[in-house]
Amino acid sequence: MNNPEMQCMTREHLRQVHNIESECFAIPWSYDSFEEELENPLAIYLVAMVGGEVAGFAGMHHVVDEGNITNIAVRRQYRGQGIGGALVRGLCDIAAAKKIAKMTLEVRVGNHIAFRLYGRHGFTFAGIRKNYYVDTKEDAIVMWKEFGEVAQ
Ligand SMILES: CC(C)(COP(=O)(O)OP(=O)(O)OC[C@H]1O[C@@H](n2cnc3c(N)ncnc32)[C@H](O)[C@@H]1OP(=O)(O)O)[C@@H](O)C(=O)NCCC(=O)NCCS
Repeated sequence: MNNPEMQCMTREHLRQVHNIESECFAIPWSYDSFEEELENPLAIYLVAMVGGEVAGFAGMHHVVDEGNITNIAVRRQYRGQGIGGALVRGLCDIAAAKKIAKMTLEVRVGNHIAFRLYGRHGFTFAGIRKNYYVDTKEDAIVMWKEFGEVAQ
């Protein structure tokens, strides 16, 4: 079990973050998209560092009182060690500190590992977006997590 150190994503993490994105997703975000996120005042990105390297990352957009998880990925050799869970927890902790009322995300219907991971962190099934993913036309499950009384 590696104990990841959570950091906010900075320019020096971008190359590794983009490599992980490319390894993990059929339609990866471009390097430039991540670079633009650094300038996006709505974007919150965490990297999980193990041995000085980026083992995984997760991002969220904070719009009004909602957090929308944009992406989360862990390098293959580090999976199953709790890093994905630590990243979700890290975003939820930031959301709670910012008094975000609720968080949402989409996950492929076939991505059972991610669906279970989110479920363990309080996200519940809210519906299906048909043919959401352009590569395979796979449906997306929409999930929400509510923070109860913290919203102002
Ligand atoms: C989803 C993802 C981020 C999870 O990261 P992770 O670091 O493996 O997450 P955790 O270790 O916290 O939890 C993984 C869970 O899946 C289980 N698991 C089952 N098969 C596994 C496998 N082949 N590899 C890793 N974990 C596996 C683990 O046991 C664990 O469940 P448990 O806590 O009930 O034992 C990672 O699998 C990933 O990057 N996937 C590709 C990108 C992706 O699908 N992102 C989500 C988009 S919505």
